[in-house]
Amino acid sequence: MSLLSIGTQCPPLISKAQPKLPPTAAVIFGATGDLTHRKIIPAFYHLAKNCLLPDDFAIIGFARRPKSDDEFRQDLGEALQKFSHTKPIDEEVWKKLAARIYYFQGELDDPEAYKRLAEKLKQLPESAKIGENYLFYLATSPEFFGPAAQNLAAAGLASKQDGSRHRLIVEKPFGTDLESARALNRDLQGAFAEKDIFRIDHYLGKETVQNLMYFRFANAIYEPLWNRRYIDHVQITVAEQVGVEGRGGYYDHAGASRDMLQNHLFQLFTLTAMEPPASLDAESIRDEKVKVLRSIATPSLDFLQKNVVRAQYGGGYINGKAIPAYRQEEKVAHDSLTETFVAARFEVDNWRWSGVPFYLRTGKALATQFTEINIIFNRPPSVLFAASGDDRLRRNALRIRIQPNEAISLNFNAKVPGKGAAELVEMDFLYKSGFDHYLPEAYERLIVDALIGESTLFTRSDEVEQAWRLVDSLRGMWDKQALRDLPLYACGSMGPVEADLLLEKDGRHWVQPKELTP
Ligand code: BG6
Repeated sequence: MSLLSIGTQCPPLISKAQPKLPPTAAVIFGATGDLTHRKIIPAFYHLAKNCLLPDDFAIIGFARRPKSDDEFRQDLGEALQKFSHTKPIDEEVWKKLAARIYYFQGELDDPEAYKRLAEKLKQLPESAKIGENYLFYLATSPEFFGPAAQNLAAAGLASKQDGSRHRLIVEKPFGTDLESARALNRDLQGAFAEKDIFRIDHYLGKETVQNLMYFRFANAIYEPLWNRRYIDHVQITVAEQVGVEGRGGYYDHAGASRDMLQNHLFQLFTLTAMEPPASLDAESIRDEKVKVLRSIATPSLDFLQKNVVRAQYGGGYINGKAIPAYRQEEKVAHDSLTETFVAARFEVDNWRWSGVPFYLRTGKALATQFTEINIIFNRPPSVLFAASGDDRLRRNALRIRIQPNEAISLNFNAKVPGKGAAELVEMDFLYKSGFDHYLPEAYERLIVDALIGESTLFTRSDEVEQAWRLVDSLRGMWDKQALRDLPLYACGSMGPVEADLLLEKDGRHWVQPKELTP
């Protein structure tokens, strides 16, 4: 089989380290939707361009509207021009990839459509070589996840024991609470084996998030300090400048706690707090991540009232542009109580972290966009420097910048030249200047991993359920509160003052974002 040669500059041989991608047909459900256009097709294009797709490969777009193959290819080509993170588009690569894309019209809840799909898959020009290796991608609205998995099973397209690969990618949200997540897991696992289910949290596909494992476990200097003896507290921030951007219909039922905290923030949290895994295989890593969540007791009402803040954006300005209040956004209820900002303090009750608070926050329409993990170390004893006025030496801090301008920076006290005083200085490592490499988008890595059956960067069912246990407790408290308890914050600020007070009452403050430019 000739491998990976759709791209125009593919090497004749792949390196041994490169995974062998099996010939596969990928079926995208929700093929005319936003996610397919913005993320999935650009990811397949970049995989092709970087020689990471097998020659024997096909994409079938499954959607409701009538459309010909050519119309579908044309739509995708236009979307690629708009959303590709590299420009210009390599037309030769796109032409070769587009020739392997087909359209299939069907209703997601119609079992007959899946039987026709099974026939279509057998009749593809590539089908003899593809064998029966299928990757089903559920990029639909979540109410179809369970029914689609069951319809695939009824049409004989779910997990098989005969050596062929039938895998299922599911996009978030995985349920809306613990109960619905359990029901969804039952539906998915009733059709596909857990090892064949790939629940996407695109944060795990980000290079800097993957680097957390390398940073912690491939260096001898940090791990001995990574515990309650040396660390005062940890801050994890995912700040967005964008508002809900036309997604009000979905977002108003989700809010920041379901949309971001339950998944992206908890992924950053568990990777930061987990114990070293026994090996790098998917189950060992995922076991350790789940253990972190299990070590967080379900918070009491009293704890939640003191340690959780939610808020919603009012109007304001970002970069000089007027932004409407959340309640004035399209498809958002005028009296909506949905939080667009959440900050919470969690405690991991285990040997390593006992007594170390983890402060998590995320919000939309904030002053600046950045995702960071900040590890704040204990204050050094000042006895030696007290006489010179430095009785409050500042804490060392490690800033792990996930995006944008991916970086790691460490600060330390240094003597100011010519003075008997210390000042904090920072040592920065910036990915863009440190590595002269192509930085793939998260979806590229995740799709390749699903194709080869590597599950490490996907969320396991028990992880999802543990995360919901915690988020449900927050939401349970809010359900009991009245409207006056939901603070508003100005667009373009860093959230409500209550979020600052959350740390200030503990004698701490949020680390300010820093301009990091290569
Ligand atoms: C998505 C959320 O999962 O992640 C969005 O639904 C959010 O609301 C997005 O904007 C953030 O992702 P990123 O990669 O831009 O940080």
